[in-house]
Amino acid sequence: MSLSSKKKAHLLGFIQHGVNSHATGMWRNAKDKINYDFARPRYWRHMAQTMERGFFDAMFIADELAPYNTFENSSDATVRYAVQCPTHEPSTIVPIITGATEHLGVGVTLSTMFVHPYAMSRILSSLDHLSEGRVAWNVVSSYSKSEWEAYGHVDMTPRGERYEKMEEYLDVCYQLWDSWEPDAIVADKATGIYADPDKVRVIDHDGKYFKCRGRHFCAPSPQGRPVIWQAGSSERGRDFAAKHAEAIFAVHPGVDRMKQYASDLDERLESKFDRRAGSVKYIYGLQTVVAETRSEAEEKYERIKACIPLEGAIAWMSGHFGLDFSKMKLDENVKNLEVPGIQGLFESIIYAKDPEGKVPVSVKEAALIYAQGMGMPVAVGTAADIADQMETYMDEGGADGFMLAATYTPGCFEEFVDLVVPELQRRGRLRTRYEGTTLRDNLLSS
Ligand SMILES: Cc1cc2nc3c(=O)[nH]c(=O)nc-3n(C[C@H](O)[C@H](O)[C@H](O)COP(=O)(O)O)c2cc1C
Repeated sequence: MSLSSKKKAHLLGFIQHGVNSHATGMWRNAKDKINYDFARPRYWRHMAQTMERGFFDAMFIADELAPYNTFENSSDATVRYAVQCPTHEPSTIVPIITGATEHLGVGVTLSTMFVHPYAMSRILSSLDHLSEGRVAWNVVSSYSKSEWEAYGHVDMTPRGERYEKMEEYLDVCYQLWDSWEPDAIVADKATGIYADPDKVRVIDHDGKYFKCRGRHFCAPSPQGRPVIWQAGSSERGRDFAAKHAEAIFAVHPGVDRMKQYASDLDERLESKFDRRAGSVKYIYGLQTVVAETRSEAEEKYERIKACIPLEGAIAWMSGHFGLDFSKMKLDENVKNLEVPGIQGLFESIIYAKDPEGKVPVSVKEAALIYAQGMGMPVAVGTAADIADQMETYMDEGGADGFMLAATYTPGCFEEFVDLVVPELQRRGRLRTRYEGTTLRDNLLSS
């Protein structure tokens, strides 16, 4: 295969607007947040410029709306061990990130459950303008009971109904985003006509969950609508992703599960939604620990793992899956069942030890695997080792790119950019310049 015909990786930096992202205990790492404060713009400017230096498509900001409280029916362990807590509001940093860069996009996670679609579409149009067309929306539906309680609900809406509600939610957003014709704004100072009302449709939606009557309040944004991103992995979630998403984020512990996932999604795209396989990007979670030598990388990995507090790990796993693992013994095996929380990530635990899911995983093992980086495969070694692993996932697992999970920041992305990026470029596996002007142009390019 010639260098130019090889599939190139899309890279995303996976992080949260908080003290700790997806490696539990990362704030304890001796290298984490030296001279930087996650709650200040300087940190975000630095992170953004690092990712742009490495030709990443985007920074991807995960979010949840309140501290997890499934473990022991309390958020004490979440607070005590900084289990993604504190986490600040994610959309507020988008203009800082895109203001510090020219090409880097931002994927922002915003829940559909407690904000009316009229307000959501306005926020996202505004962000698309301010980022000059570099915003993606990770569409989620609040899987954690803590979020529902914080927003005043006694019970959570079950998964099936959440997806049904999200269908209608997106429908309203699409109607609003598509309601201004491209030439609606004339801005004629002589006549005093700014925009032609005949070209700005009034939405009149009266559905099962939402009512919306009015015109979209924002002028058409550079991308028209944000890049739609989804990470649903249950049966219902996969269909939702196959119908709506332009890029899908999934976590699979190894290449066999990746392969199964890609062919399942391809099948859904083509048979159910008349979309071409290959038209949606499959982005898989990956954690990397790189160093000049393998032994140095292994040592670094051990230091990362040593930061994990077991109770914090179990609290995180309980929060994500919606099951209170304090009720189980540490050596009890985790069973494959449909969980109320994030089904796709639960499967990354069940299949952590073998692709058939036959080798049992105990609660303690599950918690420690999960706490390292949400069940993502971990590539530890030299730049060449890591590039080898990424190539396998692309060529055999159907990956179009990788969501790179933070292990300590700043630091881990700098190391990846300095060491792995040149190796990927040398192999023809990563762009050497940005092709387009919007995030959609860059992400959906080959
Ligand atoms: C890799 C991955 C990352 C996710 N990140 C978030 C997130 O940041 N915030 C959130 O509320 N949900 C997140 N989710 C949850 C989902 O997008 C989805 O709402 C949830 O998984 C329930 O659907 P499912 O059971 O079909 O997966 C994530 C899911 C996966 C698989």
